[in-house]
Amino acid sequence: MRLHASPSLIALSAAPLVVNSLQLPFGINLPAVLDNRLNSFKSAVSQIQVPSFINKIIDPTGSSPLLSLHRDLVAIPSVTGDEEAVAKFLEKYLQSKGFKVELIPVDSPEHPTKKRYNVFAIPEGGIKAAPILLTSHIDTVPPFIPFKDGLRSVHGRGSCDAKASVASQIIAVEELLASKEVTEDTVSLLFVVGEETTGDGMRHMNTLSHKWEAVVFGEPTELKLAVGHKGLAMLEIEAKGKASHSGYPSLGINANSHMINALYKLDHLELPSSDLLGNTTLNVGLMNGGVAANVIPAFASAEVAIRIAAKTFQEVKDIVDGALKDVEGIQATWKHPYYDPVFCDHDIEGFETMAASYGTDIPNLKGDHKKYLYGPGSILVAHGDNEKIDKSDLYEAVKGYKRIVRGIMNAKSIVVHDPAKEEAAKPVIEAVHVKVEKVEVQDAPANKAEPKTDKEEQVEYVTILPVDST
Ligand SMILES: *[C@@H]1O[C@H](CO)[C@@H](O)[C@H](O)[C@H]1NC(C)=O
Repeated sequence: MRLHASPSLIALSAAPLVVNSLQLPFGINLPAVLDNRLNSFKSAVSQIQVPSFINKIIDPTGSSPLLSLHRDLVAIPSVTGDEEAVAKFLEKYLQSKGFKVELIPVDSPEHPTKKRYNVFAIPEGGIKAAPILLTSHIDTVPPFIPFKDGLRSVHGRGSCDAKASVASQIIAVEELLASKEVTEDTVSLLFVVGEETTGDGMRHMNTLSHKWEAVVFGEPTELKLAVGHKGLAMLEIEAKGKASHSGYPSLGINANSHMINALYKLDHLELPSSDLLGNTTLNVGLMNGGVAANVIPAFASAEVAIRIAAKTFQEVKDIVDGALKDVEGIQATWKHPYYDPVFCDHDIEGFETMAASYGTDIPNLKGDHKKYLYGPGSILVAHGDNEKIDKSDLYEAVKGYKRIVRGIMNAKSIVVHDPAKEEAAKPVIEAVHVKVEKVEVQDAPANKAEPKTDKEEQVEYVTILPVDST
């Protein structure tokens, strides 16, 4: 809520915290009579223009483009599947800042009745094929938790994961364009649905013919530049036995014993590690088996998650399958989703680095682009009841994203490929005469035994015609 000031409020500004606590209820419900007074007071003061420095004191969130954008994003519920409202909000917001915005529909079998959109935005005068993309996601995990403003931090679902990244990426691009540090055909923005579940939003982008030179993914990395994140493998193990009285074990087959053998092997398995991402870790997260202490169990099951720090999913799967192949009475089933470890580019100076142990949309976007992973906030609070972000981290992230974009542009001269312009600028080649002086024939190393061809070929003239010449 926006609160402008009046002369009476200016008098109050000596005690800004008093005003703040009225304007930003920290879970306090005002009695109706006070609430009415406050509202008429607010509508009276909203008529009056005040200097911005006073606004900053009495309404720090509303007077900050970054904090108010972040607040508006967090206030809109957008649990995976229900991203329509936040996508429409972003469309309007970005259009008001001069972006050309495309809402890209994403259909999915999980949400057949829902309208879901990725939001793709390019600066006015920019091009779809801009080489640098900043991207994050607009869906959140459940349940929705309302926005709550605090003095230093902001609470609410998505306040960290990943609306803090969304807001700071947008403001960073707005500032880079305003200062003309980047041209409008250099950057674009993409905010996708479905990151928290199947990654369907980002994977949908593979069906469109977009291509980028560098993609900056926004997720909570505590303002560090990620060197990568671990891969994932999940498996379910079932053990079958035969029930009988526990006093007569020879008449039954103990499924739990089979399961214990399997899980013991997995728990003691040597799995690959890497300097960048650390150890591959294996977690037996769920076990079930048997019905009572005096019954030989006929059935047991367990679920295991492996965070892969080195090698590929397939190689780790082979190690695990190998360890389980001699265990009697069990069957292992590999589950979706799974992915290889992801190694990110981190060739930009001035950042601390980190290795993430959570999944992102990075493997869902195909292409040979450079990959950066960076964002405000900590994954440790991201999915919890107390999800929050420090306001100072939001500001720091804007600077961070700007430094990453500058870094990408400095690291190599970014070439802007505009297919439309390149088509128009194609030289028309009539015909080219090439005098071929000499043709060198190299020996293929594998075919050493073959007789040598005569190295001196005949001199000849070749006419090369452009394919489309008529
Ligand atoms: C990786 O595993 C080794 C051996 O178990 C252990 O000594 C080391 O501390 C682990 N490294 C990390 C980063 O956890």
